[in-house]
Amino acid sequence: MVPWRKNPRRARTAGMFVVLAAIATGGSAQAGPPVLPQYANDKHEGVSSCDGSTCHGSAGPRNDRSVLQNEFTTWINDDRHHTRAYKVLLNPESIAISRNLGRKAKPHQDDLCLDCHSDNPPAAKRRTENGAFRVDDGVGCEACHGGAERWLRPHDSGSTHAKNIELGLYPTDDPIARARLCLSCHFGDRKKFVNHRLMGAGHPRQSFELALFSILQPYHWEPDDDYSKRGKQAPSDIKLWAIGQAVAIDEVLDAMLDPNRNRLGLFPEFVLYDCHACHHNMDEQRRWKPRQSTGLGPGVARLNDASFLMLMQALELVATGEAAQLRTDLRALHQAASDGKGDAAAIAKGLRGRIAAWLPKLSAWKVDANVLRKLSARLLAQAEAGEFADYAASEQAAMAIQTVVYNYLVFGLIDDPTYDALERGELARMLAAVENPDTYVPARAQQSFKQLKAKLAGR
Ligand code: HEC
Ligand code: HEC
Ligand code: HEC
Ligand code: HEC
Repeated sequence: MVPWRKNPRRARTAGMFVVLAAIATGGSAQAGPPVLPQYANDKHEGVSSCDGSTCHGSAGPRNDRSVLQNEFTTWINDDRHHTRAYKVLLNPESIAISRNLGRKAKPHQDDLCLDCHSDNPPAAKRRTENGAFRVDDGVGCEACHGGAERWLRPHDSGSTHAKNIELGLYPTDDPIARARLCLSCHFGDRKKFVNHRLMGAGHPRQSFELALFSILQPYHWEPDDDYSKRGKQAPSDIKLWAIGQAVAIDEVLDAMLDPNRNRLGLFPEFVLYDCHACHHNMDEQRRWKPRQSTGLGPGVARLNDASFLMLMQALELVATGEAAQLRTDLRALHQAASDGKGDAAAIAKGLRGRIAAWLPKLSAWKVDANVLRKLSARLLAQAEAGEFADYAASEQAAMAIQTVVYNYLVFGLIDDPTYDALERGELARMLAAVENPDTYVPARAQQSFKQLKAKLAGR
């Protein structure tokens, strides 16, 4: 369940190019958010339409071409979670989840599951001729890149990126659009959602961080010079991280405002709250500690505010006054959602408006080595001070810090041997401290943050 067991390092060259490309700003302006691949009108042609050896199924990268052409090979060999997402639905865990929920259909035939565990457009939007489209391909190319009906032919005869997007290619290079896409499955959207009933039936808890998960997926693209010349955005990892947090909050607020998702009988929907607020041992009677950012007393369930705390760290560097605003909003939201003081819906709506205004600022954020150092210092100081004591916040902080430290390497602030030593030592200890929600001890995580901070001092 915890993704960072894999080595987060992607091809070094790609990392360096990200830095270069981030300086040469490019990008395609969009009017209104693009429609997610599953809900758009274009037919899905199937993975078999992409995997030809002269298309995207080359055995190795083709460095003489604008794209690597081995995207399919990377997906099938290394993006195992997405490739096997459908097959998971055939295993005993999935069958038990469905049985517990009293579902009539088997999980691999149930839209409830297929909507996230495969590319699942409506039947009429699948190219069935010659068995081209197969739902058992799992989370295939078009689940992210959009149904290829209109762009398939033009895109291999030299049409521009902007033209492809006009023809229905999903703008995965745009970090805001990418965050919405990943989160539609890794959190949920208005049509699909892992609520507490699914959790109760045995579905694993969701956690997501855009930059780290992009690295781990792993990259099957190379944001090199040519990539930017073709008009594609190549956001740095840190920008991806910040935008990912802002969009995650927006999605949580949307769920909170959505009458189909925000209730569980008499109760509010539990997945919006910190799992550990309810799920911890009864014998830990002195676990409760006041937290400044909530302003809540003991004995109430707290919202999961991990992404809010992360975004606050980014806003401190992008627009200081706005960070204070987010702190005020978050406190008000906590008081309303857990203590009935104030109108949670009104606060959520206000905050969504502000997030819409912060996103362009985050998109324009210039991340250089100095910014990276400042962010790292902030995150580690707050972590050491115990500001991220809840499991969910500690886990997000650890993912952020993993991404930040990886970028020390990308920006040349540390060399390979130093990164390797951190990965075996302090980083490994930090990740181990947040690996298991059931054995999580805040003091141990705090200690690991402190040790990492000491190691990075002066870098
Ligand atoms: C909103 C999207 C969504 C829906 C709906 C959903 N899942 Fe999942 N599921 C995920 C994601 C994302 C993960 C990976 C969680 C992680 O590790 O971060 C996952 C993980 C799982 C796993 C664990 C996989 C593993 O590799 O161990 C099982 C089993 C599973 N889901 C079964 C189901 C079943 C059965 C249903 C339908 C009843 C379902 N899921 C519905 C998104 C979803
Ligand atoms: C989970 C989502 C996801 C899946 C599944 C996926 N991709 Fe991608 N792909 C991305 C993202 C994100 C990018 C980077 C942004 C971009 O270049 O648009 C990308 C980039 C690309 C690029 C652009 C490279 C460039 O230099 O312009 C190609 C080509 C590509 N993917 C092909 C594929 C193919 C073929 C498959 C299926 C075998 C596939 N992708 C599956 C998310 C995905
Ligand atoms: C159509 C739904 C869908 C979309 C879109 C999607 N994912 Fe996933 N992703 C899944 C499911 C389902 C799993 C879990 C499958 C399993 O464990 O068998 C998963 C697993 C993963 C994992 C492995 C996590 C772990 O616990 O090891 C990573 C990394 C990941 N996704 C990254 C991304 C990124 C980055 C994006 C956006 C570019 C994205 N995903 C978009 C459905 C999706
Ligand atoms: C407001 C309190 C509350 C929150 C927050 C909460 N849960 Fe629960 N959870 C419950 C209750 C009540 C049950 C039902 C226990 C029973 O059936 O005896 C339950 C049951 C479960 C179960 C089934 C195991 C069992 O004891 O029956 C799982 C798994 C689970 N929750 C996971 C989660 C996850 C993951 C989160 C966070 C995303 C979460 N819960 C958040 C109260 C909560």
